[in-house]
Amino acid sequence: MVKEDKVSGLKIRPYQAKDRKAAVSMLEGLKDFITSVDIWDIETRKSDYGEASIKKILKTASKGKLKIFLAETKRDGAVGLVVAETYEKTEVDRLAVKSKVEYGEITHLYIVEKYRRSGIGRKLMEIAEAYLKKMGCTHIRAGVFFPNVKAQKFYENLGYRFYNVEYIRKT
Ligand SMILES: CC(C)(COP(=O)(O)OP(=O)(O)OC[C@H]1O[C@@H](n2cnc3c(N)ncnc32)[C@H](O)[C@@H]1OP(=O)(O)O)[C@@H](O)C(=O)NCCC(=O)NCCS
Repeated sequence: MVKEDKVSGLKIRPYQAKDRKAAVSMLEGLKDFITSVDIWDIETRKSDYGEASIKKILKTASKGKLKIFLAETKRDGAVGLVVAETYEKTEVDRLAVKSKVEYGEITHLYIVEKYRRSGIGRKLMEIAEAYLKKMGCTHIRAGVFFPNVKAQKFYENLGYRFYNVEYIRKT
């Protein structure tokens, strides 16, 4: 774990084309982490997962509906990533959700292990939230895998509260 003072010179900035390899690696790191805490033997991370994910994310970004921000240190380069996406209401949503409400979503958030608990996740979230607010989002959603208790504590610390709960059972 790297303490805050060791992360001096930390920069949060938008994703650039040259970051693709680092982004793929962090998306894979995130999926590996989710797989490591999976208690149901469902999650996996196949070899093309990172490339397929960044492709999908960049496609949405090209439509102006999403932004990726990276945290970068002088010493280790990119050490964190957040993906913030605006949500366009469907016809049915328009009939079911108050018109004053517009959603944004944090779809991916990852800090490399050695830099966790140094305040980088909080900083990435501040930038992502500011972007979503600027895009007109009144509420921000973030899904967390149930066994990922640490991430739940993180989001709760930032003022997020439970909204939907999803159940699962084996047939
Ligand atoms: C969850 C995650 C993004 C948090 O990022 P981080 O940079 O480590 O978090 P921060 O240092 O900004 O923490 C901010 C606050 O959140 C809370 N928090 C963060 N990690 C915590 C943990 N492991 N246990 C308890 N509280 C925690 C604390 O209140 C912390 O403030 P403090 O350190 O002053 O007490 C990071 O641990 C991570 O990438 N985990 C693996 C992937 C993941 O879970 N992604 C998110 C869900 S998809």
